[in-house]
Amino acid sequence: MFDYPESLFSELALLGFSKQISRIKKQCAKNFSATYHGDFEKWKKAIACLPDVKPSRIDLDRADILVGQPSDLSESELPILVKQLKQFHPWRKGPFNIFGQYIDTEWRSDWKWDRLKEDISPLGGRKVLDIGCGSGYHCWRMRAEGAQFVLGIDPTLLFVMQFFVMQHYIQDTQVNVLPIGLADIVGSNLEFDSVFSMGLLYHRRDAMEHLQELKQCLREQGELILETLVIDDQHGELLIPEGRYAQMRNVWSIPSVSTLENWLVQAEFKNIRCIDVSPTTFNEQRSTDWMSFQSLQDYLDANDDTKTIEGYPAPLRAIFIAER
Ligand SMILES: C[S@@+](CC[C@H](N)C(=O)[O-])C[C@H]1O[C@@H](n2cnc3c(N)ncnc32)[C@H](O)[C@@H]1O
Repeated sequence: MFDYPESLFSELALLGFSKQISRIKKQCAKNFSATYHGDFEKWKKAIACLPDVKPSRIDLDRADILVGQPSDLSESELPILVKQLKQFHPWRKGPFNIFGQYIDTEWRSDWKWDRLKEDISPLGGRKVLDIGCGSGYHCWRMRAEGAQFVLGIDPTLLFVMQFFVMQHYIQDTQVNVLPIGLADIVGSNLEFDSVFSMGLLYHRRDAMEHLQELKQCLREQGELILETLVIDDQHGELLIPEGRYAQMRNVWSIPSVSTLENWLVQAEFKNIRCIDVSPTTFNEQRSTDWMSFQSLQDYLDANDDTKTIEGYPAPLRAIFIAER
């Protein structure tokens, strides 16, 4: 398994995972392998080859999470760093600034963070779960807000390895990302103070079941932060795309804001509020040097950017906060 501090497992036991810890350890061991992903050995080697330098500065509380300064590296170390970072293409969620190398990710994930940070319960001292955390970008931002402990989970191994690139330099035992999915942790009543599910609901075949699972991860009165695609009320109550949506596979359903609020009521969440609705723009999601594949511009109708190439309403995303 990749390196996790033993303190992580003691923390997980306190949070209600006792019965699942050995299963989680087994799942991690299975997923950190070339059998799970053919590029695992390449990524592992790239992390081992990162310049062995102690960053003179770490700043998690900024749009481009900063690790180290250019002057920390010798002239010969810089190209080695860049070469290793490139092994982790495509970089989707960020941005990051590593010894002055600006990793311009596909998404400006800081924009999502800015939309929600003033409205959530202050994270100081809280234990937080980020489900579908990608590279862990928001996990670092949560820690910067004072979260006592942050656990991210994501079954996409590349993103977990991107987290480990940052962790290689940051070395914070209170922030961890596991290469597992939600199904690997549900089943017990967990005791997280705040649970984030961002960019996940529409990928779940059964949205109500997802909301129930999120509830099980929260302590009484804990806070859910849910971010997802929505449709404007003028387009109806629920969009069930046939085939792809904006070229994405596995988009099962996209509710309107009021439909999703009703679902949250049905799932017995309290104090439900929608704090933001924003269309995704070409400035927020785009191809870059660090994510050279197609992006939003290629997924929208070239003659009408209010529609996806499949003819559905263009991506609109909303953020909800609710209490268990
Ligand atoms: C659209 S991205 C969102 C990333 C990040 N939360 C954000 O909002 O920027 C969805 C993420 O969910 C992850 N994911 C997919 N299925 C999952 C599952 N069953 N459990 C946890 N994460 C999952 C994907 O690997 C991907 O990184």
